[in-house]
Amino acid sequence: TVRAASSYADELIKTAKTVASPGRGILAMDESNATCGKRLASIGLENTEANRQAYRTLLVSAPGLGNYISGAILFEETLYQSTVDGKKIVDVLVEQNIVPGIKVDKGLVPLAGSNDESWCQGLDGLASRSAAYYQQGARFAKWRTVVSIPNGPSALAVKEAAWGLARYAAISQENGLVPIVEPEILLDGDHGIERTFEVAQKVWAEVFFYMAENNVMFEGILLKPSMVTPGAECKERATPEQVAEYTLKLLSRRIPPTVPGIMASSPSLVTLLPCLFLSGGQSEVEATLNLNAMNQSSNPWHVSFSYARALQNTCLKTWGGLPENVAAAQEVLLVRAKANSLAQLGKYTG
Ligand code: 13P
Repeated sequence: TVRAASSYADELIKTAKTVASPGRGILAMDESNATCGKRLASIGLENTEANRQAYRTLLVSAPGLGNYISGAILFEETLYQSTVDGKKIVDVLVEQNIVPGIKVDKGLVPLAGSNDESWCQGLDGLASRSAAYYQQGARFAKWRTVVSIPNGPSALAVKEAAWGLARYAAISQENGLVPIVEPEILLDGDHGIERTFEVAQKVWAEVFFYMAENNVMFEGILLKPSMVTPGAECKERATPEQVAEYTLKLLSRRIPPTVPGIMASSPSLVTLLPCLFLSGGQSEVEATLNLNAMNQSSNPWHVSFSYARALQNTCLKTWGGLPENVAAAQEVLLVRAKANSLAQLGKYTG
């Protein structure tokens, strides 16, 4: 049965609030099979379904993970997969008090007519896929598109990225999934932090413009911004305090701080808009320090993390594909998760 968007409204708000609970953030473990293959190759493992299953089993069954992690983004294969000992991965997450999410985009392809830029595919059939993912237990979705600074960004690429995110967000909400809105501004390039700030303002202005045009319910979304940093090849590096200053300035210029979350049970509820940052290739510690710096003073958003590499890098290396290393690798994952949990609360001390 198909339900109207409004019938999911309360649930969407509730899901968004759960994912944005204090001291917790998202574990992004939604690498496509191709990307997961690269990660496995780095520890000398073949990209087989069994190896992907073993690794993802390790992640979701780390004891106590739900103390620091509120949501896990899965690739489609994992949403339908079981652990190595035969439990549904979705069930393991729910037992850990972690909301299962699903990557729904179909990846990046060249954008015709642009300056060698990309666009993100996946709108065709998205409504029916989303409904099936909901049935399977997913409660939020993710769509990652990218904007390249060295290649432009052209007005066309920014508009396409924003429009695609807005269409996806509307379709997700109609099917009970809280959309993570992720226009990743790639780190590549030798530009300074001011240039990133300028591009990020432009991108977020358009994302909100088109989300409004598509009647997206703002209290039922999660934002996944990139931190405002200098390009990866820029000689002038920024301190965590500078990254925090620029990133919070971006949020204050472009992201409405609170949205009314009108739930039947509590009509006057006001929701802090969740901004769950990606790590984008920052080192594990850098990503934690930058998040912590942003949470030094209270700010009118929920500022947290949705990291893949910055949670998984050392964990993956520690595992190395060996069953006898699983417990040690899980411990390392918990160390990173706890560090970022403290950073969400502004209490990380290193
Ligand atoms: P990173 O934290 O590795 O940049 O990944 C974030 C992401 O978008 C994966 O969902």
